[in-house]
Amino acid sequence: MNPFGEDIARVLITEEELQKRVAELGAQISSDYFDKNPLLICVLKGGYVFLADLTRCLTIRHAIDFMAVSSYGNSTRSTGVVAILKDLDRDITGRHVLIVEDIVDTGYTLSYLMENIRLRSPASVRICTLLSKPSRREVDLKVDYVGFEIPNEFVIGYGLDYAEHYRGLRFIGVLSPRVYSQ
Ligand code: IMP
Repeated sequence: MNPFGEDIARVLITEEELQKRVAELGAQISSDYFDKNPLLICVLKGGYVFLADLTRCLTIRHAIDFMAVSSYGNSTRSTGVVAILKDLDRDITGRHVLIVEDIVDTGYTLSYLMENIRLRSPASVRICTLLSKPSRREVDLKVDYVGFEIPNEFVIGYGLDYAEHYRGLRFIGVLSPRVYSQ
């Protein structure tokens, strides 16, 4: 059931497509991190649905932790300013870290996080994002696992919000520009 009918211009990625791709990513990560006991760091809030599905597709030993960083607020554009609102619970020295993110847009958020995490001396750091908007990138960033490359449109659902709405949708939808231009 979708209570937001007219706010959504169209469905970009269906629930079935999401589940299939997340399972593929889970299999790939399980193979790449076999016997490495990786720590998956979920970037809140947007990454929580992706992490929950991804972790259930892993067939290897792993742990999870969470970080919360400042996002766009109620706007649809990045400022490049990142603040840590919630830090990791544990020391990550010597751990194989995989950052799990909902979407890479300009890349500012993740390049800041990569730098911040690298300073804590993990054994390795990689990035796994569900969505990527390559045409919007403003910083040079290596993204190791990408679920879907998408066009430059503002999307919501499957953890992603606009002004804290739409996170519970089971699909990725394009937000009608009418919603943020009014
Ligand atoms: P970046 O720093 O520009 O790469 O932006 C990353 C963050 O911006 C993501 O973690 C999201 O919180 C937010 N964001 C970017 N594009 C979208 C979108 O299309 N829908 C919802 N949130 C977005």
